[in-house]
Amino acid sequence: MCGIVGYVGPRKATPILVDGLRRLEYRGYDSAGVALYGDEHLWVRRAVGRIDQLAEAVVGAPSSQMGIAHTRWATHGGITEENAHPHTDAAGRIAVVHNGIIENNSSLRAQLEAEGVVFLSETDTEILPHLIRKHYRGNPLEAVERALRQVRGTYGIAVLFADHPGTLIAARHGSPLVLGIGDQESFIASDPQALVAHTRRVVYLDDREIALVSAGSVQVGRLGGSLEDPNIKLIDDDWGLAELDGFPHFMLKEIHEQGESILRALRGRVQVEEGNAKLGGLNMEPRDLVRVERVVSLGCGTSFHAGLAASLAIEHLARVPADSEIASEFRHRNPIIPKDALYMAISQSGETADTLGAIQEVRLKGGVVMGVVNAVGSTIARTCGAGVYVHSGPEIAVASTKAFTSQLTAMLVFTLMLARTRNLSLDGGRRVAAELQAIPDKVVRYLKNPGPIDEMVRAVTAARYVLFLGRGFSYPVALEGALKLKEVAYIPCEAYPAGEMKHGPIAMLEENTPVIFITSKDDQRDKAISNMREVLARGAKLIVIHPEGDEEVKALAHISIEVPAVADYLSPLLNVIPLQLLAYRAGLVLGRDIDKPRHLAKSVTVE
Ligand code: M6R
Repeated sequence: MCGIVGYVGPRKATPILVDGLRRLEYRGYDSAGVALYGDEHLWVRRAVGRIDQLAEAVVGAPSSQMGIAHTRWATHGGITEENAHPHTDAAGRIAVVHNGIIENNSSLRAQLEAEGVVFLSETDTEILPHLIRKHYRGNPLEAVERALRQVRGTYGIAVLFADHPGTLIAARHGSPLVLGIGDQESFIASDPQALVAHTRRVVYLDDREIALVSAGSVQVGRLGGSLEDPNIKLIDDDWGLAELDGFPHFMLKEIHEQGESILRALRGRVQVEEGNAKLGGLNMEPRDLVRVERVVSLGCGTSFHAGLAASLAIEHLARVPADSEIASEFRHRNPIIPKDALYMAISQSGETADTLGAIQEVRLKGGVVMGVVNAVGSTIARTCGAGVYVHSGPEIAVASTKAFTSQLTAMLVFTLMLARTRNLSLDGGRRVAAELQAIPDKVVRYLKNPGPIDEMVRAVTAARYVLFLGRGFSYPVALEGALKLKEVAYIPCEAYPAGEMKHGPIAMLEENTPVIFITSKDDQRDKAISNMREVLARGAKLIVIHPEGDEEVKALAHISIEVPAVADYLSPLLNVIPLQLLAYRAGLVLGRDIDKPRHLAKSVTVE
């Protein structure tokens, strides 16, 4: 959630660190700080607020070629300069930046206080420089290792010693960290996004690994073990430098990228002639697929919604029982893992702690879990070892948009493979493959003429409450639409399966309450129309997202948004887009911070 950047090399460290933080700002952003080595001392500056505030605070910094930096998203302790990282030991000779949570913070703090340490912040992180100092006998690696042995919890850390110019130490357990290797220079980052401007050669640290990082070389080992030259990987081509490219916000840019990102999720995978598909990363042949008796998606937030839409498609096309589970619930309820089930862990960032916890629970109980991940080389991708990359490219806006459509597309490709091992004929497979291939153009066409979004915006921004309804494939879309509107515009709203409306939420309807009804060409359409009439009878404002050409529905609605018509199981890929635009424009009208909504972080790496 927070961001870490470290640099050692021949160039000036400050601009590299500050620019790196800007690229990570989307992960957590209430305060920030840097520690630089200069003239045998450490120079530390911290600031509350955005990176711009820090950039002002570092004007006049010593010219340094080595430092560490951090953006913070408060967990322990309020948003103050004292609580911002880096934290140092009492002498100011050891500086630490930390992502994660030290669970035995209270007992370690009490011990250190009893030994005379005075704490200057309320953070759990401040334990670390003091503990490292306690164990320091001249060898920085040994001191960090000994300190970490006392710590329970999660960490990704970078440590700077005033006594050891030219060397940084990095370590990870449960919080991502990647090292970048350039020409006579090295980097530490919590996200490859901070590195792509400098190098594509990276080393992903695994849990309980520690690294000695010096200019142009890194050595990595298990905590307590010996250090070795690591395995260097290349950052994927999709993972370019994320720039706005003329768009006012990343969210809008990412919404408009969906024609291309869906195409990338399909490219080289769908075989129209064979009426089939191939996902090499799954390592599953038809003889493996036929043994799958149940598919369970795991994910949080938007990724959970993509899993929900996918599970409906799996049951519909492949006739295999399928569910989607909220990872944060699943991991803690001692779940039953059927032997013949296949679990699919869906995650944009590949770093979500709850999804990772759910994966570990499945594996502990002997289950098989594949990753459906965007961030190449991320913890979930590496933990699963097999799976599907969705290739949507960097998603910077905190509110997920293109990841949803890419995740669902990848899951639909998998559905086609699974269905072909069951009752889906060659002709049926060709139809599905062709329909999938046609989606990117339909997305592009819709985005050119998205309909009266601003009318919807006026209705929801004037309202105290908004209800999203959908049946079947449209229910996950309703959930996703409501999540977007909450996240980006902070408008109170909820989503219900339309058939449930009369079991409770109908009581919320007043004159002009906006009810956003999502529909598709499916066999529940008539029932949906009955629900719409119920909404109208209560004086609510009926807004309908519907396929082009559905004149009956259009005539009923106060506001009607038409999307290109597609098969029902594909409809979430189109229907979600007007809801993304609605959240974006409502957020804009209400003056919200679109790409960095309050209290949220892009990648939730703590429970
Ligand atoms: O990186 P992940 O896909 O695992 O993230 C899961 C959720 O935290 C994420 O989808 C979150 O709900 C977004 N803010 C939704 O817009």
